[in-house]
Amino acid sequence: MIVATSSSNGIAARISKILKVDMIRLEEKIFPDGEIYVRVPAKVNGDAVVVCSLNPPQERNFLLLSLSIEALVGAGAENVIAVVPYMSYARQDKRFLDGEAISIKVILKTIESVGASALLAVDVHSQSSLDEWLTIPHANILPSRAVAEFFRDRLRNPLVLAPDAGALWRARSVAELMGAPYDYIEKRRDRVTGEVIALPKDMDVEGRDVLIVDDIISTGGTLALAARSVKERGARGVYAACTHALLVRGALDRVISSGVDEVVATDTVPSPISKITVAPLIAEELAKLL
Ligand code: R5P
Repeated sequence: MIVATSSSNGIAARISKILKVDMIRLEEKIFPDGEIYVRVPAKVNGDAVVVCSLNPPQERNFLLLSLSIEALVGAGAENVIAVVPYMSYARQDKRFLDGEAISIKVILKTIESVGASALLAVDVHSQSSLDEWLTIPHANILPSRAVAEFFRDRLRNPLVLAPDAGALWRARSVAELMGAPYDYIEKRRDRVTGEVIALPKDMDVEGRDVLIVDDIISTGGTLALAARSVKERGARGVYAACTHALLVRGALDRVISSGVDEVVATDTVPSPISKITVAPLIAEELAKLL
């Protein structure tokens, strides 16, 4: 049984169609004081797959997911597989400054402790977080294949770029599928102010279509900086793909005015640029578990 929550973003229904497995919608209410309530409106026999993306409002959706898992265990599900298309709080995966909380540890440990028997997530900021904090089976699904297919016939003489060295593996996975070269832009973020700067680096972008690949567009600052930097070096066209389009504080205007010709995202977070669905990739991974 596939269980859709109010934060499934259409992905639960798509998975249900692909796998030909019944879907039910979780009953959800908000009490007058703002507390949320969930109920599984049917008997559960066998395994349940609950789909809940932790997009904004992150805290509410995190609680929604946790309550859903608990409710499904209580309703008799043999296994509850949590499908989390966007895993929020994943960027705070270590104590960058003394005294900070490791946010992703709390999120993952809660999901496991309320009763999830497996977790499927899409493009978690650091792949290693799942291995580090979960003891249940888990998978991190990358949308590289879908991104490569989307851009394959759109770009001339492409170069795939990561907006920083730490994200090079992500750009490489798309580039290899497109048979294109890849590189990264030197970026530094001030841990206290959050300000990001691009550092000069020699790159052969002259006359090429550059595809910048990142996991998240939040304010669009990182992407805009990368786009300006490749435009200045003579790129022919600048394209961008991200998995999770949070698009806060006027991100899209920031991105487009920086010279990006086309920007697309997956549907893990609903947005006007979410043109690529991750449902077939999740369904493929689920089929191995069910
Ligand atoms: C950072 O490490 C992430 O991979 C993204 O590059 C970042 O979160 C994007 O944020 P923004 O759009 O606000 O620059």
